[in-house]
Amino acid sequence: MIVTMDGPAGAGKSQLARLLAARIGFDFLDTGAMYRCVTLACLERGISIDDPTAAADCALSLDIQFSDSSVLLDGVDVSHRIRSPQVTSSIRPIADNPIIRERLVELQRVWAGARDVVTEGRDQGTVAFPNAPCKIYLTASPQERARRRANQLAREGIQADLDSVLRQQNQRDLEDTSRAFGPLRAASDAIHVFSDGLTEDETLDRLVEIVEARRGLAFTEKLTEKSTEKSTIGNTESSFTSDANALKTNATEGDAAKTNAAEANTPQTNVLASKS
Ligand code: C5P
Repeated sequence: MIVTMDGPAGAGKSQLARLLAARIGFDFLDTGAMYRCVTLACLERGISIDDPTAAADCALSLDIQFSDSSVLLDGVDVSHRIRSPQVTSSIRPIADNPIIRERLVELQRVWAGARDVVTEGRDQGTVAFPNAPCKIYLTASPQERARRRANQLAREGIQADLDSVLRQQNQRDLEDTSRAFGPLRAASDAIHVFSDGLTEDETLDRLVEIVEARRGLAFTEKLTEKSTEKSTIGNTESSFTSDANALKTNATEGDAAKTNAAEANTPQTNVLASKS
């Protein structure tokens, strides 16, 4: 089963998606790390990130692998280097490049294959895995996200004033939501989780609840299909169907309003797995 988690910068997606995957025994895919790898490779190889063809050629030549919690670029552990401020501030033309996006989405599908995965990014529920049975859109207010980011920087010994963190974050939100290909957007069937006022543990519990409800729903739907196919017992179909509806209601109960933005309709490719 594929669980997608999209949302804006600073919503705590990476950390929570990782914790969620560990809690439910799924693999975890950090798709932002892939865009970071391409950016790092261009910077280190003297390839202009503003030359779309050269940057795309570079992306197509790279071998990006995940090994436990490490990210390997052409066999070298770049987990720390891809998080440098220089990479973060250079990433935009790479994330905007349609050829690079297409390539990375293809790699994401190959990586996911037939396994159980929590995949985190901006376009996972809309473009990469539009048929995923469980889609989560994790967000928090801009002020709350900026406050958390400033606290995190302070813990790392970096003093950052809240206003400038908020300004940079607003700029990133604008870039992420306005890109022509693969913009940040909630899938129309995503369940929204708004984490203002929730601790990390409380948010994680909420995410686990959502996944478990969707898992139960998927299981029930399968049983319903089977019982519909060969049902000779009059009541079987309707009782499974109403169970499925009850679970559906529980899974979306209390969710914040969903955006109505139309989703990209890229078909999901079934591909082979290889894992971290
Ligand atoms: O999540 P993270 O901050 O590591 O992502 C790095 C950059 O990659 C972000 O600026 C984001 O816009 C981009 N990205 C993307 N699509 C994804 C994941 C990340 O465009 N699926």
